[in-house]
Amino acid sequence: MLFKQQVLLRQKLFVLGSLAIGSLLYLVARVGTLDRLQPICPIENRVAPPGLADQISLRTLQYKRSLLHELRKGNATKEQIRLHNLVQQLPRAIIIGVRKGGTRALLEMLNLHPAVVKASQEIHFFDNDQNYARGIDWYRGKMPFSFPHQITIEKSPAYFITEEVPERIFKMNSSIKLLIIVREPTTRAVSDYTQVLEGKERKNKTYHKFEKLAIDTNTCEVNTKYKAVRTSIYTKHLERWLKYFPVEQFHIVDGDRLITDPLPELQLVERFLNLPSRISQYNLYFNATRGFYCLRFNIVFSKCLAGSKGRTHPEVDPAVVAKLRKFFHPFNQKFYQIIGRTFNWP
Ligand code: A3P
Repeated sequence: MLFKQQVLLRQKLFVLGSLAIGSLLYLVARVGTLDRLQPICPIENRVAPPGLADQISLRTLQYKRSLLHELRKGNATKEQIRLHNLVQQLPRAIIIGVRKGGTRALLEMLNLHPAVVKASQEIHFFDNDQNYARGIDWYRGKMPFSFPHQITIEKSPAYFITEEVPERIFKMNSSIKLLIIVREPTTRAVSDYTQVLEGKERKNKTYHKFEKLAIDTNTCEVNTKYKAVRTSIYTKHLERWLKYFPVEQFHIVDGDRLITDPLPELQLVERFLNLPSRISQYNLYFNATRGFYCLRFNIVFSKCLAGSKGRTHPEVDPAVVAKLRKFFHPFNQKFYQIIGRTFNWP
């Protein structure tokens, strides 16, 4: 009897021991693969992690971020909000457009800065009459919680092209900073088309080819009634904004460069927003699988943008591309003149 109990006990100990060793091995393997789980980045982009001072602030930031995250999910108590002196602030800067310029990438990348808190959703306060009628307190209520020293940024790309928006934003804050991210106009128009096409395909609907929409078949000229074309005439929209805001209140981001080499563009934005330069190459790594830069917040948390960003564009008849580029050329020249910056657009 005693012998049987001893055998049973030994068997139990063996099972428990195996489980413990197994768990330990699993943990070691996880830690070991952490590095390997990070997407591969080219050698030139592999930068040493930040120094001790930065690590400390990153840790604080990590804590703050998780607190802000809980708040966003509605999990924080009123006591926590009061204790940490958290507030919902109106945006001090808005990414007003342009649709398909890279507005999401810009917002997410700026959010890497410890002094920036993004409004995750597009709020559409100034371009949607129903929302606008809800008043400024409704708008403020849509803003994320932040610490008083931080600045809130929201993005709603439709603001740039909507008639009423400049006056409405001016009435809220006449000294607000306005960010516009642009891409080569024809590429942006095709990107715009691709997004609509994908929406139609999802609903099993057919859609015209880009060429048919962009060129008026009667005149064989560029169809300026087509929204994707109109949106790419940046100067026309900017001129409306300039009736309310001086040009110094705008900063134009090169969306094509944000794709290929984001850091210099982000550093220009930091300067425009009067923020200390805090976003570094460490925060951005090229993900070869995605074909885009992704974001690294710290040693454990990194993310890429959703799959809806960076779609494959359909092939467009080169003659139509050439026609569009010729059409946009004079508008682009005017745009450069106004903003005092040129881009490598044809
Ligand atoms: P495409 O899908 O045409 O490639 P928006 O956020 O304004 O809708 O812009 C979407 C565009 O952001 C994408 O257009 C993509 O090219 C661009 N983009 C810029 N940086 C990106 C990044 N790091 N990851 C994914 N897309 C990025």
